[in-house]
Amino acid sequence: MKVGVLVSGTGTNLQALLDAETTGRLEPATLAVVISNKPGVQALARAGAANVPAFVVEHAAVAREVFEDQLHAVLAAHHVEAIVLAGFMRVLTPHFLDHYRDRIINTHPSLLPAFPGANAAAQAIAHGVKISGVTIHFVDASLDGGPIIEQVAVPVFDDDDAAALQARIQSEEHKLLPDVVQRLARGELSCQGRKVRGPGRRAE
Ligand code: GRF
Repeated sequence: MKVGVLVSGTGTNLQALLDAETTGRLEPATLAVVISNKPGVQALARAGAANVPAFVVEHAAVAREVFEDQLHAVLAAHHVEAIVLAGFMRVLTPHFLDHYRDRIINTHPSLLPAFPGANAAAQAIAHGVKISGVTIHFVDASLDGGPIIEQVAVPVFDDDDAAALQARIQSEEHKLLPDVVQRLARGELSCQGRKVRGPGRRAE
């Protein structure tokens, strides 16, 4: 399954996927293309270093549908079947999402539905929660609200600031995301309404 990764920034999750592909932990998924909506970000350099084709599709100067059409054109040219949003800081509309129903996932640094949107670790600290974590979910047109595939909890300590909590969450995120991408590529994730079913999710 050819996977496209959409990014906007540092790209540590992209790096986790690149590393997993190198060591065979993504099979049968292969990383076909990386697209950033921002030029010059570290994620693009990571893709380049791994010889994965990388493109910039900027959102600022064009209408939303034009931006989404440009994204889709690059993805289609690389025969992409599934998409990972890995720190991609734009909300996508059904105009784009309808091409990839149940084949587009996002990783978010909180236990959704708590703390959607930007700065989730800072939101968690400000709220005083004792547990946060990472959520990987299918993408719909809502903000971080699509069906939940997998979650891992992470403790919040009294002396945490947002950066410390974000780092603790990301170390779990970097393990979980490649695992979920592999399961998606293996066809192990089925979505029934809001419920995502798959192997290893039953008590018995
Ligand atoms: C991650 O924490 C992800 O959950 C959120 O944005 C961050 C991206 O980090 N959506 P990176 O660019 O992968 O380092």
